[in-house]
This record gives sequence, structure tokens and C-alpha cells, in this order.
Amino acid sequence: MKINYYGHSALHLEINGKSILVDPFISANPKASKIDVNALKADYILLTHAHYDHIIDVEAIAKRTDAVIISNHEVVTHYSNAGFKGHGMNQGGSWQFDFGKVKLVKAVHSSSFPDGKYGGNPVGFVISAEGKTIYLAGDTALTMDMKLIPMFFKLDLAVLPIGGNFTMDVEEAVVAADFIECDKVLGIHYDTAELIRIDHGASKQKFAAKNKELILLGIGESIDI
Ligand code: NI
Ligand code: MN
Repeated sequence: MKINYYGHSALHLEINGKSILVDPFISANPKASKIDVNALKADYILLTHAHYDHIIDVEAIAKRTDAVIISNHEVVTHYSNAGFKGHGMNQGGSWQFDFGKVKLVKAVHSSSFPDGKYGGNPVGFVISAEGKTIYLAGDTALTMDMKLIPMFFKLDLAVLPIGGNFTMDVEEAVVAADFIECDKVLGIHYDTAELIRIDHGASKQKFAAKNKELILLGIGESIDI
């Protein structure tokens, strides 16, 4: 699978010929100005929670692409009531989609739409496809529940928030990598604003000191797993 980074928590996954967008916050992110939201492909849109910095471009992209929104029940209900396609799930549930199997796992955070409407429980995703398994943690604190994941999955990559203030920080993400037994981490949710700015070199060093790799992609860059 190919993972493209569009800044903040926004990703584009290419899996089994399908396009999967994750937490699209692009048009309102000045750092991602070179990414053309109107050109993005999407067969599915995965949403970890309802906060504005994860959903701002959902309606425009879903309207243009007819993508299926995958998220918790409340987020999917919000969009299906507005006429969009969705597949609602909840923490602990799994479903086999045509691109791969998706499991929703716990995230310790909050979830409300920009107008304050309840957005259900925030979630993370474990995606198994093409013989690989990745964990998208979403916005979350470090939590002991992460230890459940390696009881069921052997992760090839974990996508973890590392910016602090709203989520866990780099030091806690190193511990999270231990909990989930994954030595390869792609950092997200950092540098978008001053509150979540990180020192790239020092952050990579903190992972390296525990024999782990922290990958920090430039916006528009991609990796293959
Ligand atoms: Ni959030
Ligand atoms: Mn966020």
C-alpha cells in the first residue's frame, strides 16, 4: 500500500486499486496549499472523529467523488442525513471492505462537529490489506488499550499523533510504539500551528534511542509499505 501525506492528519492510501482519504483537512491548512483538493481521488473517506481539523473538506470531496464515508455511527449518520454515502461502525467492530479489512479501535480524545453537535466516540483504525497491517491512531492520548492491538495484529506501520497539546506528544508516542509493538511510526498532527510545533531532529532521535524509526513526510510526499 502507498501512503501519501497531505499535512496535519490528512492521508491518502492506495490499497488494492482503491483510493482511501483519511481526515481531509487541506483547504484550510495554509501549509498544504500545494495540494489541490479538487483533484484528489476518493473511493472511501475515513474519519477518526468530527473535529473541524479532520473533516473540513469531506463534503466537497464526497460530493464530487461519491465516496463512502467510514467512521463511527454518529459521524456517518450526520453525513448520511445530508445525503452522503456512509458505512457506520463503532469501537471493536470490523468490516471487510473491497480494499481490505478495517477494525475500529479506541482513541482517547473527544469528538464534536464545529457547531458543537455530538460526534460520537473518536476512533482509530487498523487496516489489513495486501498482506500488510497499519494502525491509524487518530487524535488520541497514550492509553493502555493500545496493548490490545498486538494481541490481534502484527503491525507494519503505525500512524501516530506526536504534536502534543491536543494529543500525545513525541515522548508518549515512543511508549505507544512499545505498547503496539511496532518500530516504524509515521508522525502526524504536528507543525500545523505553533501549539503543536515539534523539533524534527530531536523527535527522530527520541525514537532512534529506542531502536525505532520516526518518519516525518513533507506535505505531498509518500511512502510504500
Ligand atoms: Ni481532535
Ligand atoms: Mn485534531
